[in-house]
Amino acid sequence: MREKSVLGLCAGLATVAVADRLVAGAVRRGEFTRWAEALLVDDAGKPLAARGLETAEALVFAYPYVSTPCFLMNLGAAASPRELSRGDGVSYRWPGGVGPAASLVAYSAICAHQLAYPSRQRSAISYASGANRIAGRSRVIVCCAHHSVYDPASGAAVLSGPAPQRLATVVLRYEPATQTLSATGILGAALFDDFFVAYREQLVETYGPGQWRRKVEGRTVVTPLSRYSKEVVSAAGC
Ligand code: FES
Repeated sequence: MREKSVLGLCAGLATVAVADRLVAGAVRRGEFTRWAEALLVDDAGKPLAARGLETAEALVFAYPYVSTPCFLMNLGAAASPRELSRGDGVSYRWPGGVGPAASLVAYSAICAHQLAYPSRQRSAISYASGANRIAGRSRVIVCCAHHSVYDPASGAAVLSGPAPQRLATVVLRYEPATQTLSATGILGAALFDDFFVAYREQLVETYGPGQWRRKVEGRTVVTPLSRYSKEVVSAAGC
């Protein structure tokens, strides 16, 4: 991993004190990587309002690089913090949902199996808010490339399919007074280096030779997946 290590973070939980305790634990275990904070904004450049966000589909934003897409989802119900296993006998705390109803979660949208991701042309990975055949349930992230299913309400745990690990969490900070959301870092194992190796040519073509590995600075634009990718393979159709 080339990402820099961290000293601490502030997750958007119900209370700052609880957030601090959870985050301190994650930092001690080396699971959290702090990146430059980025305010989530809409297409017009206005801060995205956390209240009343879309529940039917995922919203896409770039973080921590301009070329690494992430999903923001409103699950429609609170997602509680929980202990997650790192796979080596060590567990760490996932901070749960943020926002007015603690229902907003965000993850890297790079599939942990073979790195399928939402490009501007096509996305094989999406959030299915309704029941679907692949998962047999609603409110899941489905990668139609090889049918991996993740649970966004439990730290993107793998429910089925070949993915060997959960999706990395984008830690969000929620400001109740302004209803704004900011990305502050990545919790869990991110696959950015593998992603850059696998898709270098495509990313250079899309973002430019000097830009494809540029870090997000200050703000990042949030776009519904149905507008971000020209073609979205829905869970119902894969
Ligand atoms: S790339 Fe997503 S399941 Fe294979």
